Amino acid sequence: EFDTTRDIQKTFGIIKPDASHKKEDIFERIIDEGFTIIRHETMQLSRERAGEFYKEHEGKSFYEKLIEYMTSGPIVVMALCKHDAVKEWRKLMGPTNVDDARKNHPTSLRAIYGKNMTNNAVHGSDSLTSARRELKFFFPKLSVEPSLSNQESKEY
Ligand code: TYD
Ligand code: MG
Repeated sequence: EFDTTRDIQKTFGIIKPDASHKKEDIFERIIDEGFTIIRHETMQLSRERAGEFYKEHEGKSFYEKLIEYMTSGPIVVMALCKHDAVKEWRKLMGPTNVDDARKNHPTSLRAIYGKNMTNNAVHGSDSLTSARRELKFFFPKLSVEPSLSNQESKEY
């Protein structure tokens, strides 16, 4: 039986400011883990764009710090492709909390390159719906069809 959850997918990732100088090492790891880096671009995020990108977190206690941090230096935005890419990229990133990552997922990117809760090295879409939105936000010309088209409701 064909397992649709393991279709080739695209997902979206960011290498955050404090880790962006480790871009080449991180790219190498991403490729070693079987991803294709379809697009990547180093950029500076404006406050306005950061606010729009993270609008789901508006009003939360960490929101201001998060926007401050994400606009503090260059970031690397990436479109990634793999079987089950959304879930696989979240797995490679490791948990949000760097202490948890170091303790329980020591080979994850957040364990290796993260410094603390705010400064946790990488971002990744948390669902296929987020992946579609976030890919369109940073790579408007990139096609997100058909791999995401019939899997809207899957959450990871
Ligand atoms: P969230 O989407 O919950 O985590 P993830 O990046 O794993 O999807 O939060 C977005 C970012 O906000 C997170 O990467 C780091 C920051 N953050 C904090 O600084 N403190 C917190 O308590 C949380 C939950 C997140
Ligand atoms: Mg998130």
